[in-house]
Amino acid sequence: MAAYSRLTIPELQSKKGREKITALTAYDVLWARILDEVGIDLILVGDSAAMLVLGYKDTLPITMEEMLILAKAVSRGVKRALVIGDMPFLSYQISPEEAIRNAGRFLKEGGCQAVKIEGGEEVCEIIRAVVKAGIPVLAHIGLTPQRASSLGGFKVQGRDVSSARKLLNDAKAVAEAGAFAVVLECVPKELAARITSSISIPTIGIGAGPDCDGQILVLPDLLGLFEGFRPRFVKRYANFAAEGKRALQKFISEVKEGLFPAEEHSFSLSEEVKKLLDL
Ligand code: KIV
Repeated sequence: MAAYSRLTIPELQSKKGREKITALTAYDVLWARILDEVGIDLILVGDSAAMLVLGYKDTLPITMEEMLILAKAVSRGVKRALVIGDMPFLSYQISPEEAIRNAGRFLKEGGCQAVKIEGGEEVCEIIRAVVKAGIPVLAHIGLTPQRASSLGGFKVQGRDVSSARKLLNDAKAVAEAGAFAVVLECVPKELAARITSSISIPTIGIGAGPDCDGQILVLPDLLGLFEGFRPRFVKRYANFAAEGKRALQKFISEVKEGLFPAEEHSFSLSEEVKKLLDL
């Protein structure tokens, strides 16, 4: 029997304080395969797909059915990394039963190993129920895009004393509720460091400074595929949009000039068949 090569949740948790955890989003099999091959620990099928794949204006409209199509595609490409399904808006807030049913679909149908749920203390009852059903949960606090309008927009969270204390409490609450790790989004670096040293589960930062136990970015941001708004915390490691446009322009001009396809891209008939067809 082949060795079980999938990273496990206890293995991921044991990296805390020893080795940084790496995480990225993916939405299709091609990129999922590449992320897995380069050794990314955790792949999030993020609801950022709402904007980046499906063209919605924010994350709210994406449905369970849409997320499951993407989760299935990603899971098919991954052998080692943990694949996490991001629970879309209103798939977990209505009742613990509905949250368990939807979270379970990410495992049963989507091929994921865990789900991500946005929110702190206010979603702990849901996290507890989902974990009790045997479904691992990655929590997500700080700037939670599904609640961006009640948080006053896409802003850094926890900048004043009371909101910093609330975030620290949220982190402790989701850990106590059974989350296996927590994403900290847009949190001042000193507060993220304090949260990281105050809880026993790994913190995975996005715009939360260098002291988190791991880092996650949105793949099209890292690759420079998304040319719109670039948050301060994003580092572009490549410029795929510009490079891609150069390649596409070259294709257009080569087709127009008759340079593509060349001899090596074409198939030929045998001399015998050509003769018979009078070609
Ligand atoms: O949906 C997403 O891409 C996310 C990341 C920002 C963590 O939740």
